[in-house]
Amino acid sequence: MSRKPILAANWKLHKTHADALQFAQKLHYTLERDDCERADVVICGPFTTLRTLQTVIQSDRMPFHLGAQNVYWEDKGAYTGEISAPMLAALDVEYVIVGHSERREIFGETDEWVRRKVDAVLAGDMTPILCVGETEAEREAGDKDAKVSRQISAGTEGLTPEQVGGLVVAYEPIWAIGTGRTATPEDAQEMCGLIRGLLRERFGDAADATRIQYGGSVKPGNTEALMAGADVDGCLVGGASLDPEDFAAIVRNAV
Ligand code: PGA
Repeated sequence: MSRKPILAANWKLHKTHADALQFAQKLHYTLERDDCERADVVICGPFTTLRTLQTVIQSDRMPFHLGAQNVYWEDKGAYTGEISAPMLAALDVEYVIVGHSERREIFGETDEWVRRKVDAVLAGDMTPILCVGETEAEREAGDKDAKVSRQISAGTEGLTPEQVGGLVVAYEPIWAIGTGRTATPEDAQEMCGLIRGLLRERFGDAADATRIQYGGSVKPGNTEALMAGADVDGCLVGGASLDPEDFAAIVRNAV
């Protein structure tokens, strides 16, 4: 089955709304419309950039999709500092990163929270980008498959095959994030293949439609090789997505 590539910029804690505007304009100027028709290009900015990105994407008809980096699972209530799925949907956000390793490791997000967030994103008619991945110690101890399997089963528990087909999963080995140490294309394919196999066991052929990204020190120079894996359908890009020219090169090299 052919799956449309998906390249997502994860800016993390970078860029003001004014920086975001400049980035979108530069990316739009740099990329050919054709590149954006062959792939879904997603910008996951901090919450404070989303309204600005929504406005410029719509007013200048930019072929980009809007994404957020986190969400809370309740729609509303006394949860100071949180942002809900309906709030994101009202800004035309289409994708929401859920369970990024930085959320899990720094902010203590559990598998159970991740599952609730996946449900909230789906209930808001948006697409979760469900992140999974092992630490270096887990890989060295031979536990990478078990860790990723546990995160996949917890994150997809109770979903229908149709929902799983629409999901984006990002395999991000923690030892490769922000370190400049990229997984080899073989490692990336092995783990993305494992994830598709796990989804197939639980949800059948719907797994063929699920898009699986690799993330961790993706750069223009390694994108093409990483994307060559049969089960690698895109990239989740941190550091190299901050520069519109680098991110444009990643999109071009992926399609
Ligand atoms: P990186 O981050 O590209 O800077 O390694 C990837 C991510 O955390 O999504």
